[in-house]
Amino acid sequence: MDLIRVEDVSYNIDKIRIIEDASFQVQRNEFISIIGPSGCGKSTLLRIIAGLIQPSHGKVTYVGQKIAKPRKEISFVFQDFGLLPWLTNIENVKIGLSGLDISEEEKTYRASALLSKFKLDGFENSYPNILSGGMKQRVGIARAVAAGPTVLLMDEPFSALDELTANTLRADITYMLRSKDIPVGAVIMVTHNVEEAVELSDKIVVMSNKPSRVKAVKGISMKYPRNRHGREFIETVDEIYKALIG
Ligand SMILES: Nc1ncnc2c1ncn2[C@@H]1O[C@H](COP(=O)(O)OP(=O)(O)OP(=O)(O)O)[C@@H](O)[C@H]1O
Ligand SMILES: [Mg+2]
Repeated sequence: MDLIRVEDVSYNIDKIRIIEDASFQVQRNEFISIIGPSGCGKSTLLRIIAGLIQPSHGKVTYVGQKIAKPRKEISFVFQDFGLLPWLTNIENVKIGLSGLDISEEEKTYRASALLSKFKLDGFENSYPNILSGGMKQRVGIARAVAAGPTVLLMDEPFSALDELTANTLRADITYMLRSKDIPVGAVIMVTHNVEEAVELSDKIVVMSNKPSRVKAVKGISMKYPRNRHGREFIETVDEIYKALIG
């Protein structure tokens, strides 16, 4: 059974149609990217999948069940990190554990182990404001995966970072996801970066603009890690660009 099914989803704001008839499926162990022009409705679609907003038509299901509200199996990573500045880094990660029926001591232990896994030893009790962008996003991702979600939704998780930091974090996170060091069932990432999508994804969903439709769904079977300078990589990037502008 599909882990996530997006079925004929349309979304209107006032009377304006933002998303029209979007459909695609996500299997267990897939890394999916949704790519499309700025403002086309990618974040809106991700928020619908998260159960934060409801589609105007159509539905999204999680293992066959309609997603009517946020559920603990599906978590979210924000472009701007979404950390609470008045909480320490470990307290921010513990938010991700708040739904679990475990002791405070156990939460602290798990959150501390996660911060260590994300190379943030020694920053447990400081606040997000002293962290670099890359470190902030490590806290954001640690929080999102803390409770062991089945589906990880990421909205442009690397786009607020400089390219060097983004490269390192991208490599670290995808290695952790693929090696199941972070045990997540599937990832859906929104991006407008074609190279990033081709580097990371098993499948790319290409969206159009005004209203946003699924223009193409392209499976990518190149093995990992992918070489950005290889012929197949460059050809695939070309193909996605053509699908985007065509
Ligand atoms: N609450 C709202 N009220 C009015 N318009 C909205 C609202 N939320 C989103 N929109 C509009 O819906 C469209 C889609 O927005 P959305 O943020 O989903 O796009 P996006 O593809 O994520 O854009 P970006 O690439 O800039 O992040 C945009 O044109 C935006 O202006
Ligand atoms: Mg967006």
